[in-house]
Amino acid sequence: MTQQIAVIPGDGIGPEVISATRTALDAVARSHGLDLAYDTFDWSCRRYLEQGAMMPADGLDLLQPYDAILLGAVGWPGVPDHVSLWGLLIPIRRTFRQYVNLRPVAVLDGVDSPLRDVRAGDVDLVVVRENVEGEYSEIGGRHNRGFPDEMAVQESVFTRAGVTRVVDYAFELARARSGYLTSATKSNGIVHTLPFWDEVVAERAERFGDVRWDAEHIDALAAKLVLEPGRFDVIVGSNLFGDILSDLAAAVAGSIGVAPSANLDPTRTFPSMFEPVHGSAPDIAGRGVADPVGALWSAAMMLDHLGHEEAGADLLAAVRSTVRSPATRTPDLGGTARTTEVADAVAAAVSR
Ligand code: NAI
Ligand code: MG
Repeated sequence: MTQQIAVIPGDGIGPEVISATRTALDAVARSHGLDLAYDTFDWSCRRYLEQGAMMPADGLDLLQPYDAILLGAVGWPGVPDHVSLWGLLIPIRRTFRQYVNLRPVAVLDGVDSPLRDVRAGDVDLVVVRENVEGEYSEIGGRHNRGFPDEMAVQESVFTRAGVTRVVDYAFELARARSGYLTSATKSNGIVHTLPFWDEVVAERAERFGDVRWDAEHIDALAAKLVLEPGRFDVIVGSNLFGDILSDLAAAVAGSIGVAPSANLDPTRTFPSMFEPVHGSAPDIAGRGVADPVGALWSAAMMLDHLGHEEAGADLLAAVRSTVRSPATRTPDLGGTARTTEVADAVAAAVSR
């Protein structure tokens, strides 16, 4: 049965890394006999500037029937970042109940961590970020606009259902990996929502007696991720904490260009979305040097999600072997390859 994938290349280097990813996916599909079909949507800041909206009014209805969504990056100078984010990515994540944002982080062989003592293989962790509620809520507003007493209020929203499902996902993942989970909190300073988060984590932990877990305040956790990144395996955090921690962890791993992510609806009621962590990188867009590894790794996660674990593992192994050599990695990793050369090398490695 054909699996249908909606592709949104987006802006800047988004189309460049997605084109590279299609090259590699076609090679994987050939060697593993997968039947994948793609439809491409031009939803982007360019579309916003030309037509006044990032996507058409019925955009979410158009996406819903797909088995998965593959996204490059959106954002462009001249379009405020909250417009591109709230006009496309956040509606997709929320409407499709993609309540888990999964962000694996590893120091790949051939990539230098900026940390002096960290070598390839030392860091291999996953940040599980709550993706539909928490601090990124639409509840709040502005008062007394333009006056000296102008103010802004934004409410954080933590629901029992929302915290439970993401924490359960993280415990399951920890059980399948090393059996160790860290919960990011700040229940000393934030007196309502995060003590509630802690309570739910402790309650759910009772169902996962085989998983060791602890809670760390976000400030101390940020420091430990730099000082001892190898200590962590699965880290679960709220929307804001997970967002910040995963960029920090990606930086520890050497380049934002290699970090992948999956926005998952684990119930599979709606399509899940796979995208590199990086943005549209206007500073290097159009030069053909964007690192496609984050997008390729995201595509490997998509293959896993679609039930093609072997193909996903094969793609990731091909990416890892390609990154080992400076001739087949991009300049952000100290290499000399162009984006298309990395794609061709990965495609050649999977077809073997
Ligand atoms: P960015 O991730 O686009 O770039 C940050 C730095 O990393 C730049 O110097 C860039 O050249 C470099 N970089 C990023 N990806 C790279 C890659 N694959 N290969 C080599 N170098 C890479 O973040 P920035 O500059 O803060 O944002 C640029 C635009 O992207 C903004 O409009 C922002 O809103 C948007 N953005 C979109 C995201 C998304 O679509 N999910 C995520 C983050 C930012
Ligand atoms: Mg972020």
